[in-house]
Amino acid sequence: MSAQAWAVVCAAGAGERFGGERPKVFAALAGRPLLAESLERLEACEEIVGIVVAAPAGWEEPVILLAEELGCSKVSAVVTGGSTRGGSVRLALAEIPGEAELVLVHDAARPLVSEEIVARVLEPLGRGWEAVVPALPVADTVKRVEDERVVETVDRGSLVSAQTPQAFRADVLRTAYAKQGEATDCAALVEERGGRVCWVEGDQRLHKVTTPDDLALVEGWLGES
Ligand code: CTP
Ligand code: MG
Repeated sequence: MSAQAWAVVCAAGAGERFGGERPKVFAALAGRPLLAESLERLEACEEIVGIVVAAPAGWEEPVILLAEELGCSKVSAVVTGGSTRGGSVRLALAEIPGEAELVLVHDAARPLVSEEIVARVLEPLGRGWEAVVPALPVADTVKRVEDERVVETVDRGSLVSAQTPQAFRADVLRTAYAKQGEATDCAALVEERGGRVCWVEGDQRLHKVTTPDDLALVEGWLGES
């Protein structure tokens, strides 16, 4: 039997860099809210047994309606997100049943999540890893700068850039979030505690929508992914 996991969907951001009237996760991707892609795709994953969504304050009802419209019966709770992404994860985690063993945390801003990548991040959890990050090698030359000055060129051979969905042993993720503390991704909190974190090959199509240009890029991949 394949591993069974709960999913947290982080959708509570304001989308300040994206701009617009509505939160970014309600921006239209091929005529549907951006959030619809992640919900529908996670719903279709055999390994996912339940989904908790962190919604922007005041947008809980539209998120519930969207999940209903899409027939996403695995969505068991919609919580009001926190003021930071970490805060949103913490609030969503509280709605996941205590008996859940594995948890996936995904950004709704990365709409093209697939069953293939979900399986890929869950697999190492069965081999003793506690957290798994999909990541891509860094293609550009990376430089450390101080104000205007370039200080050094960093060896990019040991650098990767992290994406979501990230997968965790539920107890490890809960412990990481039990303490106050902020990080731009969940795996960083596990790393800080000396947890066993590994990375697997990510996918270019998991590109994060930050600005309207990103939306156009992802829309171009929609048909093929
Ligand atoms: N997110 C969240 N709760 C927050 C902040 C962010 O759930 N308080 C979610 C976003 O909805 C997004 C993901 O975390 O799916 C990654 O965040 P980001 O791309 O930074 O989105 P926003 O915070 O919405 O954008 P911005 O930083 O430009 O305001
Ligand atoms: Mg943000």
